[in-house]
Amino acid sequence: MELLGVIGNPISHSLSPVMHNSAFQAIKKTAVYVPMLVQEDNLSQAIQGAKALGFTGINVTVPFKEKVIPFLTQMTDDARIVGSVNTILFQGQEIIGHTTDGAGFQQAMEMEVGINPVGKSFLVLGAGGAARAIAHQLSKHDCQVYLTNRTLDRAQRLASDLEATAIKKPIVIANQQQELAKAVQECQVIINTTSVGMEATKDQSPFPLDLLTQEHQVIDIIYNPAETLLLKTARELGCTVQNGVGMLVWQAVKAWEFWWGITPPVDVMYQALKNSLASQE
Ligand code: ATR
Repeated sequence: MELLGVIGNPISHSLSPVMHNSAFQAIKKTAVYVPMLVQEDNLSQAIQGAKALGFTGINVTVPFKEKVIPFLTQMTDDARIVGSVNTILFQGQEIIGHTTDGAGFQQAMEMEVGINPVGKSFLVLGAGGAARAIAHQLSKHDCQVYLTNRTLDRAQRLASDLEATAIKKPIVIANQQQELAKAVQECQVIINTTSVGMEATKDQSPFPLDLLTQEHQVIDIIYNPAETLLLKTARELGCTVQNGVGMLVWQAVKAWEFWWGITPPVDVMYQALKNSLASQE
């Protein structure tokens, strides 16, 4: 029996166990995936413990995606550039950190709304961990990324961190109507990576809604609620829209590819996730 799991705090709400375990069952893989609550002071012991117990790998979620980095022996280029790890592989004595958030986002965008980044312009709202992963992934392609954030220097830091690897240098936009209006005219795709629109702020938008036109494609990485105010407004206007379910599924798919080099049954993961979310409503 192979052992997998996810470390975080809190962890009981995590939808990863049901996604991975459903996929294991569907292909009769002898593996189990468990949620593991870890206190920050015990992070090093938790990782060493998982290694000692023979875990194949683990996922890492809030608030440990950056905090695990000192306890790794290797990091992939993606993880190093983004500065975040959501997937760890134990391989002999090595503890290898990787991030699948950006690749998962891109694959979901291609599969769900058919967007190929090449030649496009994207407005990324936010500059936290999720924005870093997404902006890095997009900037590997010949496309223009615009970044904006409530705290502008965080967006500026992200742009400068991506400068060395981006095909086109990201452009930082002040979070003000006039500046945003100009950028929005240039962009085909608007991506919300901020937490604005989640339950506590569900009647708020991370972005002035009057700037949307029906030509825009709008992606919100929030999956609960399934339709944020931003997505509802965009859908009613006639925009193509996508929520965060796809990114959640595809980052898990990319974790399988990192652990085993195989692709799980994606439709089974989608269904398991949708069932879990429906039962939470
Ligand atoms: P994650 O790892 O999920 O991206 P994070 O690193 O905490 O989480 O980042 C959250 C993002 O949402 C940030 O861009 C944050 O803006 P700040 O950098 O200014 O904090 C943004 N955010 C959170 N609450 C917000 C609010 N009420 N209005 C605007 N932006 C908000």
